[in-house]
Amino acid sequence: MDPINLFEFELRARDTLPRMAYDYFASGSHDEITLTENHIAYDRIALRYRVLRDVSSRDLSARVLGHEIDLPVLLSPTAFHRLAHPDGERGSAQAAGAAGTIMMLSTLSNTAVEEVTAAASGPVWFQLYVYKDREVTADLVRRAESAGCGAIVLTVDAPVLGTRERDVRNRFALPTGLRVENLTATGGDITGADRIVAPSGGSGLAAYVTSLLDPAISWKDLEWLSGLTSLPVLVKGIVHAADARLAVEHGAAGVIVSNHGGRQLDTSIATIDALPAIAEAVAAQRAAGFALLIDGGVRRGTDVVKAIALGADAVCVGRPAIWGLAVDGESGVRRVLRVLRDELDEAMALCGCRSVDDIRALGGDLIARD
Ligand code: GLV
Repeated sequence: MDPINLFEFELRARDTLPRMAYDYFASGSHDEITLTENHIAYDRIALRYRVLRDVSSRDLSARVLGHEIDLPVLLSPTAFHRLAHPDGERGSAQAAGAAGTIMMLSTLSNTAVEEVTAAASGPVWFQLYVYKDREVTADLVRRAESAGCGAIVLTVDAPVLGTRERDVRNRFALPTGLRVENLTATGGDITGADRIVAPSGGSGLAAYVTSLLDPAISWKDLEWLSGLTSLPVLVKGIVHAADARLAVEHGAAGVIVSNHGGRQLDTSIATIDALPAIAEAVAAQRAAGFALLIDGGVRRGTDVVKAIALGADAVCVGRPAIWGLAVDGESGVRRVLRVLRDELDEAMALCGCRSVDDIRALGGDLIARD
């Protein structure tokens, strides 16, 4: 039977993928409390729907950072798509384009940014990790810009890598033939930046992050980054309103409320619980186009409604796209986005909303509070 919801895509992917690969994508840090909470927190929110509002036609389109998208669901950056399927990042980008939405490409991709943008039919944004070697980092930004990426997404929740115990046990490494393709050309000064190899113990990715990425990254680096590029810079990994305000002050074009899919600080707040205070903190900037996105735990169309009602412009999904890719390559990612689209369409109709603006207009009134 074909998977009919995002949870079933994960089950099918688990049957398909080698254990090390499935564990890498599926795992959260330590006890995986935040991993679970991210979705459970949506389940705890009840929708107080409206009726008799003529929902005979519905429009799912949204606007994010000046892009008109057909669906308020973007692809979050996730690493190593060719570990899920040979279609890899090209397949994900094509599927995102076919769904009329945006793909965020990880620095840690198995396909170089130039090849991804060449294959893509829609916008691609580039997720950036800051390497200790700032020249290498600056070069990545310049390459993303000249490859045609529409934004830089700076990940700020990973000064060190959260311990994913499954990866430690499996001594996670990339299989022969898979590399961090964005670092093959620029990695000359930092030998090994294109490889994830198993250290004598533990996770190869953890060793990579410790040796190459910069834990000293601070707010002034956001200004450094904005000075390097004319692209808008989004800050991904915010769960505190004070940090959202600092992002505004340091020139960000938007923030992504994210805890890295529960892969960094375990027991950190579920993103949907963090969203309302952040929406309030950046309310004044929204009118000027400041983007507010959220990821973590979005698995149902009703989750999308809840996130938009609580202030997000759109949501992003990470693992579900990986499950789709593992199940059936590019067409699997298309199917995942189609399922989410259909569920959102149904949820909107049943909430009395014809458009994303209708959800926004009802806002917190759609959410039943104790
Ligand atoms: C990479 O960004 C990861 O979280 O594994």
